[in-house]
Amino acid sequence: MQLLAETAGARRILEIGTLGGYSTIHLARALPAGGSLVSLELDERYAGVARENIREAGLVDRVEVRVGDAKALLARMVEDGEGAFDLTFIDADKGGYPAYLEWALRLSRPGSLILADNAIRGGSVLDPEDEYARATRDFNEALAKDPRLSALVLPLIRERIDGIAIARVLVD
Ligand SMILES: C[S@@+](CC[C@H](N)C(=O)[O-])C[C@H]1O[C@@H](n2cnc3c(N)ncnc32)[C@H](O)[C@@H]1O
Repeated sequence: MQLLAETAGARRILEIGTLGGYSTIHLARALPAGGSLVSLELDERYAGVARENIREAGLVDRVEVRVGDAKALLARMVEDGEGAFDLTFIDADKGGYPAYLEWALRLSRPGSLILADNAIRGGSVLDPEDEYARATRDFNEALAKDPRLSALVLPLIRERIDGIAIARVLVD
């Protein structure tokens, strides 16, 4: 992801789902001087851990962690005209992925990248038995069908097979 952000020349990055700030730090390392990253996290305790890790990584000047439900925070960002982000990374509650895609599109510009983690889920998206697999499958289908996007899901071998969705926004 860091390489993708560097290759895209991303100056403004949005992350949905911070946890301890691991992906936040990698993405923030791709930013040029003057770049910024906003990361959204539901849990105040995780946000605290992430802020500490971000401080230790020397990235406080470019990273802001906001606490709250991402859907509410994203709605406010759209209302406040906070776009456009050059890259959005979706990695929060899987049930929210379809909605996050719509918010990410509203906060993007043509050429922006939208990435999403856990897009294969051990293959369960092919025959979903739980709500998370179903939401991820809906998300993948939306990516594949949306004429505003050019997209793929890249398989990654972890403990089990998973994948990252990579989409490029084509139009406003
Ligand atoms: C998979 S973890 C993120 C991992 C992180 N992106 C990384 O790779 O290092 C998902 C995070 O999303 C947060 N989350 C879950 N539901 C959320 C919501 N509705 N709004 C914001 N954050 C949420 C969880 O608290 C958790 O910290």
